[in-house]
Amino acid sequence: MFLYDQYFEQKLQQLRDNGSYRYFLEVNKSAQHFPSFYYTNDEGIQRSAVNWCSNDYLCMSTREEVIAKLGFVTHRSGTASSGTRNISGTTIHHKELERTLANWHGKEAALLFNGAYQANVTTLQTLGRQIPDLIFISDARNHASIIEGIRAAGNEKRIFRHNDPAHLEEILQSLEPGRPRLVVFESVYSISGTIAPVKKILEIAKLYNALTYVDEVHAVGLYGENGAGLFEQEGIQDGIDILNGTLSKAIGVFGGYIAAKSTIIDFIRSYGSGFIFTTSLPPAVCSAANKSIQLIRQNPVWRQDLHRNVNLLRDGLRQNGVVFTHNESHITSVPVGDATRCRQVANDLLHQQGIYLQPINHPTVPKGEECLRIIITASHQLKHINHLAFSLGKILNGKNQDHRTEFPAFASAVGNSATED
Ligand SMILES: Cc1ncc(COP(=O)(O)O)c(C=O)c1O
Repeated sequence: MFLYDQYFEQKLQQLRDNGSYRYFLEVNKSAQHFPSFYYTNDEGIQRSAVNWCSNDYLCMSTREEVIAKLGFVTHRSGTASSGTRNISGTTIHHKELERTLANWHGKEAALLFNGAYQANVTTLQTLGRQIPDLIFISDARNHASIIEGIRAAGNEKRIFRHNDPAHLEEILQSLEPGRPRLVVFESVYSISGTIAPVKKILEIAKLYNALTYVDEVHAVGLYGENGAGLFEQEGIQDGIDILNGTLSKAIGVFGGYIAAKSTIIDFIRSYGSGFIFTTSLPPAVCSAANKSIQLIRQNPVWRQDLHRNVNLLRDGLRQNGVVFTHNESHITSVPVGDATRCRQVANDLLHQQGIYLQPINHPTVPKGEECLRIIITASHQLKHINHLAFSLGKILNGKNQDHRTEFPAFASAVGNSATED
């Protein structure tokens, strides 16, 4: 007889033993005091800390106009769409947002999903199932949602070495001419922060008549003159066939999407199970996302603040002897290389210094590549940066002790208590 409970418990114990069991910290955000938040510690005491892993890069989720739009449309339209797009779940807000997204990315059309994960899985699965003999050619570091979409399609796949166009070309060259193929990659990789050689990838893909699919989840809002992403920055929006993005990170609201030619969008809209058979986004969410994109386009200074902060952070880390992996993006990754140590450093930072950095462990990264990923936002201040850089330097360089008294900035950096909210 199969012992279900025992099996589940054993599998969970395996995670605890190898240090990759996930503990959720309660991160009670304060729109007024972002990036500070409060949480309840193990002794039941409320404490305040600074968030260094929020994807709210431009702090859009806390901006008054976006919050007001969400509230206003909720009052008028209710909290939910209560239907699939096909059955009473399409409103003017869905259509307007899709038009905005298409226009922003220089595409004919866009399609909303309830997240970029779902957009990736549904689109890749649909293409794989519907295009006879399609082969996926996927970057080795692609996100779990891309891997899942390819797996769900069940088609043949080939993996090219991370950001290696020569290897991509080798694979494409080896395929039977005429066989349909889809090259799948990200523009900014979410953990390492590496940036794909996008122009080169497109050039090679076109040479071998491949369809191209990019995940711009960590780039939308942050790069390009209008903040549309890395493809806008590089002036190659036309070259990509399908672009995937999220409304939940830099845009600060919720949901995901793809943008492409009308025929491709119509195809996914018509055949994609994960699009068809699910309740659509609430109208107010669409409207708030639309407002947020409008503000992002009008305020390049927020992007500049973010990138200036990235440089200040990296200067601070260097000055404090903290090693981080080189990249040209806004994501800063500090290698630790051991799950237990990674968690210990994160615990010390939180409980001794009021600094919240999430350890990134297996399966998000391969074993041995455990790291602390630092995400800075437009709202982090110099005092926050100095505090983080100094604390990380102390803890990682082996002098692990409570330095709270050494930080005059500590009380103001993290606030005194949860009453801030
Ligand atoms: C690269 C990448 N793609 C897709 C997703 C999924 O996005 P969403 O949160 O909108 O589902 C994430 C993370 O959340 C991501 O990091």
